[in-house]
Amino acid sequence: MEKKQIGIIGAGISGLLACKYMLSKGFDPIVFEAKSDVGGVWIKTIASTKLQTLKTMYQFSDFPWPSSVTENFPAQHEVFDYIQSYAQHFDLIKHIRFNTKVVGIEYEGLSDEEIQSYSLWNGNGQPFSFKGKWKVVVDNIENNSTKVHKVDFVILCVGRFCDVPNIPEFPPKKGPEAFHGKVIHSMDYAAMDYESAANFVKGKQVIVVGFRKSALDIAMECSEANGLKNQCTVLYRTEQWIGQANLPWGLPLTCLICLNSFCEEGILVDGEPTSTTPLKTDVVILATGFRGDQKLRDIFVSQVFQDYKQGSSDETFPLYREIVHPRIPQLAVIGFSESFSNLHTSEMKCRWLAELLDGTFKLPSIKEMENVMVEWDEHLKRSSGEHYRRSCIALPIWYNDQLCKDMGWNPKRKKGFFAELFEPYEPLDYVSPSRSN
Ligand SMILES: Cc1cc2nc3c(=O)[nH]c(=O)nc-3n(C[C@H](O)[C@H](O)[C@H](O)COP(=O)(O)OP(=O)(O)OC[C@H]3O[C@@H](n4cnc5c(N)ncnc54)[C@H](O)[C@@H]3O)c2cc1C
Ligand SMILES: NC(=O)c1ccc[n+]([C@@H]2O[C@H](COP(=O)([O-])OP(=O)(O)OC[C@H]3O[C@@H](n4cnc5c(N)ncnc54)[C@H](OP(=O)(O)O)[C@@H]3O)[C@@H](O)[C@H]2O)c1
Repeated sequence: MEKKQIGIIGAGISGLLACKYMLSKGFDPIVFEAKSDVGGVWIKTIASTKLQTLKTMYQFSDFPWPSSVTENFPAQHEVFDYIQSYAQHFDLIKHIRFNTKVVGIEYEGLSDEEIQSYSLWNGNGQPFSFKGKWKVVVDNIENNSTKVHKVDFVILCVGRFCDVPNIPEFPPKKGPEAFHGKVIHSMDYAAMDYESAANFVKGKQVIVVGFRKSALDIAMECSEANGLKNQCTVLYRTEQWIGQANLPWGLPLTCLICLNSFCEEGILVDGEPTSTTPLKTDVVILATGFRGDQKLRDIFVSQVFQDYKQGSSDETFPLYREIVHPRIPQLAVIGFSESFSNLHTSEMKCRWLAELLDGTFKLPSIKEMENVMVEWDEHLKRSSGEHYRRSCIALPIWYNDQLCKDMGWNPKRKKGFFAELFEPYEPLDYVSPSRSN
């Protein structure tokens, strides 16, 4: 029998995991990657980036960190090397088409109306339908050509924190174009080589907008480049991520209610006592995050599928088990819910998906899946408040337990009553379907 072909979009951690677990079940994966290397966000970051998750939590269940990496929070190049070794160890590279950007995917064989009338995922409750395939349109960046591939299943691993920057909206003619200095997104700063990045901010007045990890890391790099002479200002609207004790030294932190507009000399801020007096600056770095939701939506040719994504006002979208959309056939999304260790969560999802595609278990009806999704949303709202969709999966162990139960695995991964009670759960606990040793 011909192997089912699985189109995987993206060769970051999620795409590599998807490829590895699809191979483990005898499928034929083809990975499209726009960049020329594996690793996604880890290919290039700002100089100071380290893993912010303990390395024991951010590791592949069957490929532990090498003993040569001794830091608990390895540096970017160590994370990158680790991901590359994983791809080489499991011989994944030969399945990846580098420098190929997927510009659109279209489900062929059935009309949107027929798909909407389904009561079971894919119409039959099976992972593959006999009627439909996905058409994947791929641009080859190197030779400027376009090719169409037909695949039986698509796994979107396009990444939530790269490619499409979130740029705040400004009134007409009051955006960055009105400013005489330079405005860039954190993504552009991260793309510069380390020396160019340091030179870019050296001796300049810099405003960083945002108050999460990228903003504070960049502000720290600015303060290192300039010391107290040209203090970097951090503009933020929501205080979070760090406690007061960890605020970068020497950084004036300005709480803004709204980044209103640009003027020639700098930024005008609502909520400041003098909102007509600009905060003067030479450079503005917008560390305002990414629009992963938009990237995901735009990859669909079908307006109906695009609208499913738009249906949620939040930064990510409802998916059953955070993996499949009940009304989008033969497709899964990996890497769009945040957790304390995104690597581990992506791995658990890929294992669940591999078992689903292999027929180990079936999905309930579309109605039942939608009810479960509502319940999960309520649960996240209760535990994480208004930022619930931005928050980490509230209870990762609880999430893993659900996936284990679906797959028929024992969710209790430790050996012995006391180990279960007192030992922390780690990715290595999930190395095989049976309990850890
Ligand atoms: C600087 C930084 C540090 C982080 N640190 C941590 C951390 O310490 N702990 C943690 O848990 N998480 C961290 N994260 C979150 C991180 O995003 C995940 O841990 C993980 O690396 C994401 O992997 P991914 O494969 O899902 O996505 P990505 O790494 O974003 O990979 C997506 C890939 O898809 C490709 N792609 C996208 N669209 C297309 C297309 N249309 N066609 C072809 N290819 C496409 C991209 O080129 C990219 O290579 C960090 C994120 C950033 C940005
Ligand atoms: N390992 C590491 O060291 C490291 C380094 C960098 C990034 N990361 C990870 O990468 C991911 C992305 O991080 P990120 O910091 O780039 O993005 P982010 O977490 O999405 O943060 C975006 C920031 O911009 C603010 N913002 C968005 N729109 C704004 C607007 N219109 N006006 C003013 N402020 C606005 C947000 O404020 P609100 O909170 O009010 O929305 C938030 O403070 C995260 O998972 C992060 O943990 C990790």
